[in-house]
Amino acid sequence: MPEKLVEVKDVEISFGEGRKKFVAVHNANFFINKGETFSLVGESGSGKTTIGRAIIGLNDTSNGEIIFDGKKINGYLSHSEKNDLIRRIQMIFQDPAASLNERATVDYILSEGLYNFHLYKDEEERKAKIKEIIKEVGLLEEHLTRYPHEFSGGQRQRIGIARSLVMQPDLVIADEPISAFDVSVRAQVLNLLKKFQKELGLTYLFIAHDLSV
Ligand SMILES: Nc1ncnc2c1ncn2[C@@H]1O[C@H](COP(=O)(O)OP(=O)(O)OP(=O)(O)O)[C@@H](O)[C@H]1O
Ligand SMILES: [Mg+2]
Repeated sequence: MPEKLVEVKDVEISFGEGRKKFVAVHNANFFINKGETFSLVGESGSGKTTIGRAIIGLNDTSNGEIIFDGKKINGYLSHSEKNDLIRRIQMIFQDPAASLNERATVDYILSEGLYNFHLYKDEEERKAKIKEIIKEVGLLEEHLTRYPHEFSGGQRQRIGIARSLVMQPDLVIADEPISAFDVSVRAQVLNLLKKFQKELGLTYLFIAHDLSV
């Protein structure tokens, strides 16, 4: 029996108040079973990123429910519930040029979530995790001491993927993760995402413009 990991029920997301209120998402309804890839496809401005951001808690909802692993996650949550979700739901962003901290080394970028959530026993274990994930995404250990501007767009997106996956999430929201790339890099990034899904049993919400992707 497939098990639902996330369910979006009658969700409305609006910006602004009163006469300035703008409803960006009306009545969204869908669910994603564990281990599946669910694609959200639509034209620019249709509210795809807005829904993704609501699931990770960066946008408030004005109506409806978002259920994750059996619990409602929009609205009030305790500090520890929030922390748990930040780890379990990760997002890969549309624009790898804008989503990495330019002043941090790759080592720091990949470790930040581990530091924040104490997801390692000691320094040795942290280093081992980082070294493993950097290789898994097809980069090298010596890349860890470099800064984002020293990488190509495709490599930066690999860093973005590594940053999400090192948290061992259950759900990954991939917001047009390949739209910035040419065809050969697109295929590489998609294959990488597929590989991780198989190995780690990840569930994906995959946002795209284009059905063929
Ligand atoms: N913080 C915000 N404040 C006001 N309006 C917003 C905000 N975020 C998004 N919107 C509006 O919500 C609508 C949906 O935007 P969203 O970014 O979700 O679209 P999208 O489907 O992801 O588009 P694209 O394919 O271009 O990425 C747009 O009209 C946008 O202007
Ligand atoms: Mg978008």
